[in-house]
Amino acid sequence: MDGRAVAAKVRERVAEGVRALRKQGIVPRLSVVLVGDDPASAAYVRSKARASEELGMQGETIRMPGTTAESELIAVIDRLNADPSVHGILVQMPLPKQIDPDVVRRVNPSKDVDGFHPVNVGKLLIGDSGGFVPCTPAGVMVLLREYKVQTSGANCVVIGRSNIVGKPMAALMLQDNENANCTVTVCHRHTADLPSQTRRADILIVAAGRPKIVTGDMVKPGAVVIDVGTNRVNDPKAKSGTRLQGDVDFDAVREVASKLTPVPGGVGPMTIAMLMANTVRAAEMAGR
Ligand SMILES: NC(=O)c1ccc[n+]([C@@H]2O[C@H](COP(=O)([O-])OP(=O)(O)OC[C@H]3O[C@@H](n4cnc5c(N)ncnc54)[C@H](OP(=O)(O)O)[C@@H]3O)[C@@H](O)[C@H]2O)c1
Repeated sequence: MDGRAVAAKVRERVAEGVRALRKQGIVPRLSVVLVGDDPASAAYVRSKARASEELGMQGETIRMPGTTAESELIAVIDRLNADPSVHGILVQMPLPKQIDPDVVRRVNPSKDVDGFHPVNVGKLLIGDSGGFVPCTPAGVMVLLREYKVQTSGANCVVIGRSNIVGKPMAALMLQDNENANCTVTVCHRHTADLPSQTRRADILIVAAGRPKIVTGDMVKPGAVVIDVGTNRVNDPKAKSGTRLQGDVDFDAVREVASKLTPVPGGVGPMTIAMLMANTVRAAEMAGR
């Protein structure tokens, strides 16, 4: 499954939305707050700002030092909440130790384009489509739809129960609509006999952050396998000495699965595309 191609389609739709908003004098604006100088976070933030600008939106990055106090971050979030020209706010994770990650709850739910605020989490759980859905699981749903994967009645197994990926992913697959309607099992580190669970999956979604945790013998023949994992592993053959590795043993699983996402080029590109889609939606809702 080609995440780059599907993400390009999503971006086209987003660009159309941006053009329509601009005609009304609204320029969607995403403010990303980066605290500290973690190189991976800095790279993610750069790609988010670049994507916003490529689509005709405003992408603003607010950089704060790693020594920032929680109260200082809260003051910035409050300022962005109060600024009507800001439609989406994203606080890049991870935050330095002195700041409670729950600080993201300070973001106004109507600007919470990451979908992490409890109000948006609650809306997802009760099937209220008016909230924001976390970008990575939302991107997986678009991939499944684009590839016409039959979900209704399927057994879906999700490995991982994080608030960012696993739990919202499970909630989406459980929704009462024809693009979901799965019977969902969620696995984690305490799951007894993981392979016996994964072998029952018609759709297997892996978000464990463990390189090659899913091997060929753990997959039911014909299953659809979505690899969310992005692990940096050593590779002496690579120029940088490292490369990205998914949670799935791609070469072994492609022999068994009917559809499979690669890493990179699968779920990753969808995440940023969905962030852009959420920001345009936030701007549309604010303009109403
Ligand atoms: N492509 C993208 O855009 C994108 C976006 C977000 C995340 N990711 C990647 O997706 C992966 C997961 O991210 P995350 O934020 O959800 O990670 P996380 O917060 O570390 O959660 C990992 C989950 O996997 C479970 N797990 C770990 N080892 C396991 C094992 N051996 N057997 C069964 N379950 C196991 C953990 O169980 P416990 O709860 O019991 O600890 C936990 O629920 C990471 O590689 C991350 O980099 C990719």
